[in-house]
Amino acid sequence: MSDSVKLSYKDQTFEFPLIEGTEKEKGIDIKSLRAQTGLITYDPGYKNTGSCESEITFLDGEEGILRYRGYSIEDLCEKASFIEVAFLLIFGELPTPKELNLFSEEIRKDSLVDEDLKTILKSFPKAAHPMGVLSSLTSALIAFNPNSVDIESDAEMREAIIMLMAKFPILASWTHRKVKGLPLNYANISFSYVENIAHMMFKMPHQEYEPSPVLVNALNKLLILHADHEQNCSTSTVRIVGSSHAGLFASVSSGISALWGPLHGGANQAVIEMLEAIQADGGDTKKFMAKAKDKEDPFRLMGFGHRVYKNFDPRARIIKKAADEVLQELGINDPVLEIAKSLEQEALNDPYFIKRKLYPNVDFYSGIIYRALGIPTEMFTVMFALGRLPGWIAQWLEMRKKNEPIGRPRQIYTGPTARTF
Ligand code: SDX
Repeated sequence: MSDSVKLSYKDQTFEFPLIEGTEKEKGIDIKSLRAQTGLITYDPGYKNTGSCESEITFLDGEEGILRYRGYSIEDLCEKASFIEVAFLLIFGELPTPKELNLFSEEIRKDSLVDEDLKTILKSFPKAAHPMGVLSSLTSALIAFNPNSVDIESDAEMREAIIMLMAKFPILASWTHRKVKGLPLNYANISFSYVENIAHMMFKMPHQEYEPSPVLVNALNKLLILHADHEQNCSTSTVRIVGSSHAGLFASVSSGISALWGPLHGGANQAVIEMLEAIQADGGDTKKFMAKAKDKEDPFRLMGFGHRVYKNFDPRARIIKKAADEVLQELGINDPVLEIAKSLEQEALNDPYFIKRKLYPNVDFYSGIIYRALGIPTEMFTVMFALGRLPGWIAQWLEMRKKNEPIGRPRQIYTGPTARTF
């Protein structure tokens, strides 16, 4: 079988090599396209364009497969802790018990932030969206840790990774406490990584707090499911910002802003707001389905559709099952879950959705669990960022280690031609 493709243009034929991944995916290597033909490609939204080779995450949109470094998310959700998965994504292998203890211990020890970060937090209005605050505080971390990191030094890189993994949950929890007008909590090093997230978000000053196993198990699973997703919008942002050799913290701060958008990570908040609007409107899901299909109406069925998954998002399957379990364990009957299920059934049987292969994605059910766990809607995308942090770190590290060139796409100019003033 030919391992190249031919392009004929005007009276010439050009040949370009095919590259093939370990999962037999194939791509046309067009690095020499412009030099050979004077042409560039045109692909808004990069729907057909691979930006890199990566060894971190494999997903198959047709088959609904998602694996981190070869391990299926189904296995990892059942058998691993989030911090184990973070280690796997970042360093490439599951940690030995000794490595896991050391990694966890180093993170616990670094779970403190400079008190002056509170001054920055205080300057935000209470109504500020937590994602905007988190992006700013993450960028501010650079000011308190100014020494740039030598990418060639594994020790320096490890220190920066530990620092970000340790401090990010503190900043994330503080964005929640700020919105609620509550005192800020410090990490408690007797807790695990996920227990600490719950502790810092929910511990009230006037009473003891012990994170519930239901909460910790559900959070562990949710954070694992959000941990990486190959070259999605926010990860591509982290990579392209890092490709200019901007630091890890600055690159992650830009990824937080990209994730905030309602078409991306912000969809989990938009899903609940949509379901609540349907409930307030009397629960008429058919009316909202019609709006979603009406080209004149900007309304979209949030939590549905995906750039890559043209089948059920495997994460949505796991989260939907977990939502049922958590609500049952907590004895909660959330009418919004019933609305979500009837919407799903209608969409899965609707020709418009079937033709466009629009299925529930990771954001469709996650908000229902967060809500049941007492996490406020405006914090849902912050929870997504908490999960995605190790993926962003792993992808940034891979890009820098491979010394990828600075990301700088081309364009087709359609503006005015030369004219005199
Ligand atoms: C995440 O990339 C990742 O991996 C992201 C993510 C991750 O883990 O990082 O998986 C997380 O961001 C999940 C997606 C969350 N976003 C939403 O739920 C928002 C609602 N979904 C849509 O906005 C949309 O489906 C996208 C943005 C997710 C994907 O958009 P695409 O791939 O650009 O597809 P498209 O907009 O070209 O849609 C194709 C067709 C269009 O109709 P036609 O023009 O062909 O007639 O499907 C329609 C769209 O109008 N369509 C929808 C729809 N999604 C697509 N119609 C109604 N409701 C929707 N939700």
